Amino acid sequence: MRSVVALLLLVTGGGGAAAAAAQARTAAPAPLGAWTPTPELPGMGRPVDTAAVAARRRALLQRIGRGIALIPASHERDLEKEYIQDNDFRQNNTFFYFTELETQDAWLLLTARGPDSLETVLFLPPRNPGQERWTGLRLGPDSVATRLSGIATVLPVDSLERRLFAARFRVRGPVYVPLDVTTRDERRVIDLVFSGQDVRNLRQLADSLREVKDADELARLRRAVDISVAGHVAAMQAARPGMYEYEIEAVLEAGFRRNGADRVGYPSIVGSGPNSTTLHYDVNRRQTRDGDLVLVDAAAEWGQYTADVTRTWPVNGKFTPRQKAVYDLVLATQQVAFDSVRPGTTMRDLNRVAQTYMREHSAKLCGDQTCDAYFIHGLGHPIGMDVHDVTVPGRQKLEPGMVITLEPGIYLVEEGLGVRIEDDVLVTPTGAEWLSAKAPRTTADIERLMRGGR
Ligand code: GLY
Ligand code: MN
Ligand code: MN
Repeated sequence: MRSVVALLLLVTGGGGAAAAAAQARTAAPAPLGAWTPTPELPGMGRPVDTAAVAARRRALLQRIGRGIALIPASHERDLEKEYIQDNDFRQNNTFFYFTELETQDAWLLLTARGPDSLETVLFLPPRNPGQERWTGLRLGPDSVATRLSGIATVLPVDSLERRLFAARFRVRGPVYVPLDVTTRDERRVIDLVFSGQDVRNLRQLADSLREVKDADELARLRRAVDISVAGHVAAMQAARPGMYEYEIEAVLEAGFRRNGADRVGYPSIVGSGPNSTTLHYDVNRRQTRDGDLVLVDAAAEWGQYTADVTRTWPVNGKFTPRQKAVYDLVLATQQVAFDSVRPGTTMRDLNRVAQTYMREHSAKLCGDQTCDAYFIHGLGHPIGMDVHDVTVPGRQKLEPGMVITLEPGIYLVEEGLGVRIEDDVLVTPTGAEWLSAKAPRTTADIERLMRGGR
């Protein structure tokens, strides 16, 4: 847009109201999620990082050693059978990880006959101009697909069975399929071609690759986080006692969408007063009251990756001493956990650090029990293409490039007082980096923002 505006100014020589309007337009910052799509890439697709996906495919084939991986793409969702909230289509994560293509009804075939003999074939349905009047342009089995995907061999999907039979007899070894996303029709093809073969679930192998994020994934996650932060900030700025939770949700999600979010990463949780103590409350229908805390656990998905951010704030902009005391214990617990994040530590270690800190610093804040009794969920989890991304077992050592949440909370049901603070954190070679810290975290910063400050 910027270059178009600049070009117009050059052509018209600028001047007058039109130039002033153009100037105003150039001055507006680009939305956080702005990323110009490749013109030929149909639908909502963004440019593929062809080097990144090729490296991921190589890594998978190297793990397989000798064998086949066969990955179907997702299909369009059915407006008449499903309650679709965003788009007719979202790619499944396994297909996306190895292609970054947002195209439906495709298949990816990877074969390994040893470390020096790796082959990738992309199968695409033929284009259908009549259907494209409804769906918009689609990727077809042609040179455009080859160029955009970076995959040299792109074939029509009706040659799939023939190629699979050929692969079956050429390649010895197991056949890996993401069994969670294959439909009954796809299973029929697989059973027909590979009957009697060692067919395994691909998910475990594919998921293990997804634990450490590569540079392209981190760039996507950072955008998702920045967009999420913008939504949280907008919600805090707009909040007033008496607003309904859904009004706050609307401001929050408008903030996501205005910044280019593709969708929410999970249903937005806007829990005020007593609802702040229900961990996954997402009905969002209550009217807030003066004096309530509001717990907002919400994040944007961008480029297939989602953040996961929670902020808790007073709807009237001022914490009571009691709210602040509980809040500050949660905040300090989160900080102690953050300070312990480094390669080699485990989620179990971090949980222990957080629980211990909260227990030892509770004093009488939570009555007869220490506050850790009211911290009723885990400290955090990995994020990525799923909000609860591929599971890193509690005992597994963290590595640089993993992205996790740190989300301690205290939920005092009898007082209708729940506090959770959740940030996204990148494990670095020497420790950790806050990704979502631009959303105010301390009570002073939250109050300043809600008073109209920055
Ligand atoms: N938003 C879900 C979670 O925090 O785990
Ligand atoms: Mn979380
Ligand atoms: Mn969350």
